[in-house]
Amino acid sequence: MPTATDPATLTDVQRQIVDLAREFAQTRIAPHAAEWDRTAHYPRDVIDELGRLGFLGMLAPEDYDGQGLDALTYLLALEEIAAADASVAVTMAIQNAIPTTMLTRHGTPAQKKRWLRPMARGELVAGFALSEPDAGSDAASLRSQAVRDGDGWVLNGAKAWATNGGTADLMMVMVRSDTPERRRGAKGISTFIVPTSTAGYRAGKPEDKMGLRASNTTAVTLDDLRLPGDALLGEEGMGFVYALEGLDAGRLGIAIQAVGIARRALELSISYCAERRQFGMALRDFQAVQFKLADMATRVAAARALAHQVAARKDRGESTTQHAAMAKLFASETAMWVTTQAVQLFGGYGYMRDYPVEKLFRDAKVTEIYEGTSEIQRIVIARGLAAGS
Ligand code: CAA
Repeated sequence: MPTATDPATLTDVQRQIVDLAREFAQTRIAPHAAEWDRTAHYPRDVIDELGRLGFLGMLAPEDYDGQGLDALTYLLALEEIAAADASVAVTMAIQNAIPTTMLTRHGTPAQKKRWLRPMARGELVAGFALSEPDAGSDAASLRSQAVRDGDGWVLNGAKAWATNGGTADLMMVMVRSDTPERRRGAKGISTFIVPTSTAGYRAGKPEDKMGLRASNTTAVTLDDLRLPGDALLGEEGMGFVYALEGLDAGRLGIAIQAVGIARRALELSISYCAERRQFGMALRDFQAVQFKLADMATRVAAARALAHQVAARKDRGESTTQHAAMAKLFASETAMWVTTQAVQLFGGYGYMRDYPVEKLFRDAKVTEIYEGTSEIQRIVIARGLAAGS
């Protein structure tokens, strides 16, 4: 497939994993994606199947039943899933990147055994709750509060736009653990491991979203939610740093999610322009259309190459903060541009729900917003430049 990663560049293991991901995506996801989008159906059974195949534990260490794979292999698989349905891809992306990174780096052996192992096996779906109604881009201004209670903690507050807020088994929740008398800014935030079955955890109704309609997004209320002492992840006051570390990994996944969406729009456009005839010839015989398809293909390839380059940095153990922001910025703006061109090429059909490109256009938009808006990515990149990295 000329629009996807060139198989000649892959190792045997990578090719097997990509083939498995593509086969699963084409048989278990793609045929249903339009219906799930229409009915806002969250396909937990399909997510569980993905988990049983190991796709929810690709980056988790083998010691904890994960696949222990490199970031590039993970991106290759995630692109296949995203090309079939971006909603399924976001659950895979978050689980592999954010809670897995947080637990692997900062969990105690007991926490890893209890939470990371079942996550890696695909038995638990995990999410991440950072944003609040008044703390989106300025995430460190969050106000939800944890107060010590004997050996444990009591959490109160309100989270917003949590992916899988109503469907996850486990959430990594960022709340303040400093006191109102002694606020410590970003260093007053801690991360708690919160099973969603805990009394006091309340997910709101699923948000009625423009796109990504088969993924569950909710507000979450923390209402006198009591947790034992061992629910605190790592060091108290380091939760914001852990969240940003997790987001470095998360943003790379969103970059490739955007590549998957854009690639699908490109593939559909190529087929449509071969079939659709106007003024006595196929659309693809018009040079203006050829130029558009050429630009779409070039941008998709460039976005993928940038994301793969960041994966290579990650696999070498180098910092990816600035580079993951670049990959997400470029890929998400590529997805929005490419899907806009696809709708234009499909013309009147492109605007109709019966044709698949308008879903891709709607799905693409959120990649410019979540896990940090394009403006936040530019801030992160510019700060990296100022720091000389
Ligand atoms: N890794 C580790 N540490 C980091 C870091 C990183 N990538 N970036 C910053 N830090 C550290 C800083 O060094 C600093 O620590 P020191 O004081 O010891 O130096 C601390 O974290 C605070 O950093 P900043 O001072 O830079 O914090 P800030 O308030 O200026 O915010 C920001 C920086 C980049 C703007 C950040 O707030 C941000 O990324 N905002 C966007 C939030 C976001 O992406 N939200 C997505 C929510 S999740 C979602 O979308 C849905 C879902 O379900 C996944």
